[in-house]
Amino acid sequence: MTITIHDLAAFKARGEKFAMLTAYDAQTASILDEAGIPVLLVGDSLGQVVLGYETTVPVTMEEMLHHTRAVARGARNALIVGDMPFGSYQVSVEDGLRTAARFLKEGGAHSVKFEGPQVELVERCSMNGIPVMGHLGLTPQSVHLFGGYKVQGRSDEAADRILRYAKELEEAGAFALVLECVPSELGATVTRALSIPTIGIGAGADTDGQVLVVNDMAGLSTGKLPKFVKRYADVAAVISDAARSFAAEVATGEYPGPEHSYGN
Ligand code: KIV
Repeated sequence: MTITIHDLAAFKARGEKFAMLTAYDAQTASILDEAGIPVLLVGDSLGQVVLGYETTVPVTMEEMLHHTRAVARGARNALIVGDMPFGSYQVSVEDGLRTAARFLKEGGAHSVKFEGPQVELVERCSMNGIPVMGHLGLTPQSVHLFGGYKVQGRSDEAADRILRYAKELEEAGAFALVLECVPSELGATVTRALSIPTIGIGAGADTDGQVLVVNDMAGLSTGKLPKFVKRYADVAAVISDAARSFAAEVATGEYPGPEHSYGN
């Protein structure tokens, strides 16, 4: 059965913690969906983990739509959230509304996410039938403003500001809120203060849900990862071993065997 934004509200009401993962392609979306992951975010982290950009800033709307459609084709039950790319909603509320509508109409998403205290845009989307997930704390599209990927909300003033924005986004109609890279105590405070679910990524153990980038969670990403990432598998090693075995068997002629070959 398809998960809706109302199911997420019910999870919070029942105190049931839930998982969200990113997905960028149909096969992975299908695997995660079958595994019972209720929310799939087509994150603009696409830019870094799939497209090889340094940051999420260059990601375009066409790239986001291309991958959102793929995820929508692969998933059957999960709530699909399309992540609005940098530049597609910051210039005007009208731009933002148009972008959000495209995710639902052309991408097959059920909802959208965008970063920062875009209160008016949340209000306009909600008024027009587009469910919005907010995103506060370390908002990666602002990496150049922050001067790097740094924990946010450490000072009392910054923590108060994040709490105030969170309440404003809820008031404007957001159905959930991602909190990224903030002290655990702030994650807990915001979670207690809101009636909508919070979904943490580096925001401690007390948020209502947790999200990770699927490539990080499955160990496909290599190199230094943020402190909050837990690798649940080593898919990079599995692919590397498989590729070496394939190449070795091709070299010796062991592959393809008769079972992989066609007769007349
Ligand atoms: O783009 C993304 O993957 C995200 C999550 C990290 C929340 O925004």
